[in-house]
Amino acid sequence: MKPKVLVTRRLFDEVVVRLSEHFEVDYHDDDDALSAMELTARLADKNGVMLVLTDKLDAQILAGAPHLKVACNVAVGYNNIDVPACTARGVMATNTPGVLNDTTADMVWALLMASARRVVAADKWTRDGQWQAWRFLDKWLGQDVHHATVGILGMGRIGQAIAKRARGFDMRVIYHNRTPQPDVKDATWVEKDVLFAEADFVVVMVPYSPATHHLIGTAELAQMKPTAHLINVARGGVVDDVALIAALKNRQISGAGLDVFEGEPALNPNFFELDNVTLTPHIGSSTRATRMAMAMCAADNLIAALSGQTPPNLLNPETIKDSPVGADVTPSRRAILLFGHGAKNPEWAAPFVAIRGAILARDSSALVESGFLELMRPTFAEAVDRLVAQGAGEITVVPIFMAAGSHINKDLPLLAAAAMDQHQGVAIKLAPPVGAETSVLNAMADYAMTVKAAG
Ligand code: GLV
Repeated sequence: MKPKVLVTRRLFDEVVVRLSEHFEVDYHDDDDALSAMELTARLADKNGVMLVLTDKLDAQILAGAPHLKVACNVAVGYNNIDVPACTARGVMATNTPGVLNDTTADMVWALLMASARRVVAADKWTRDGQWQAWRFLDKWLGQDVHHATVGILGMGRIGQAIAKRARGFDMRVIYHNRTPQPDVKDATWVEKDVLFAEADFVVVMVPYSPATHHLIGTAELAQMKPTAHLINVARGGVVDDVALIAALKNRQISGAGLDVFEGEPALNPNFFELDNVTLTPHIGSSTRATRMAMAMCAADNLIAALSGQTPPNLLNPETIKDSPVGADVTPSRRAILLFGHGAKNPEWAAPFVAIRGAILARDSSALVESGFLELMRPTFAEAVDRLVAQGAGEITVVPIFMAAGSHINKDLPLLAAAAMDQHQGVAIKLAPPVGAETSVLNAMADYAMTVKAAG
């Protein structure tokens, strides 16, 4: 008998056809949401659910879904899912990272440009027939985007796609994250206060959680330049909308471009009174190609989870062992990342090859990747991505060749913290560094055993 899944919203036919090959699909073929009661009723006999960001999956709804093994969000943000409650019930939760980075960064750019040059207000004014004469100095003097400073709050993958676009406009890029990202080039980590004070465009790119609730409120807006613009394509609630409306109204800041709101779609009506705000209805990832990629990504997660594999974008790997499908599921695997310099001197690459080869000779199923600090690829972050894509849930980083005053010592904890930010639920542990031939060999033996034990 095929597993039973619920799809809570109308999606592309191709996705539903694909799901039907694997599952008995209960398809809510409608653009409007199921009520909490309907959702609970339809989840009663389901093993999996594919849901969207307005579907709340909380402890109460989960309590009515005793057969549920996996919940696949068709979104990168997952504040609609109570992940700890899922974990407590052994329900895997997944999201769709990666596939929407460029599309969302494009949307940030659209709002940033629109706000700086007042495109939407000017369109309305023109349509209203108010353009009577061309003036050199008129109400439409805007702000330059090129050569300005963009401040990105939350330098994840989408933040990096924004920074890439900014470089094309000769902008200075500053950012704030819990931890600096040494892998991100041409962008400077700054304290939050500095970001608010110096940015001409503050771009909010952090997920919503109790910790980021009203991260930007009256005090932060007061730190911004009167010429600055605030762009939010992340989540409502990260910005205090009442404080923002006051700041826009008093011209404390110049403008805002907003795709997300507190209480959306019922946004604060005071926004409608302002001509220095550009409003869009949460469409950051909304291109045909990207919405298709997101839905297919969620389908990949659903199919993997219900066929006994680790879904590629698992948010709570702790569920794997205890999950109702636990017996069939590959445990979230331990992995090794060999990390160090590698570019300048070809001999420096030799230990990576030798250690990796030796580990694989002992255990051909071991997950081992190399990552490099400087010019060589893959970078640390890319190596982590590769391991996670292969199902790694715990990564032991072995720093290689610490001799010669390496700055790996300083950068490695930052890189590890940044990677854990990117891959929620993946543990990254730092092993003692390896500096000489003998300890290379010792470390090799140790880590070969670690991998064997996990296998
Ligand atoms: C959209 O808001 C998403 O989180 O994917």
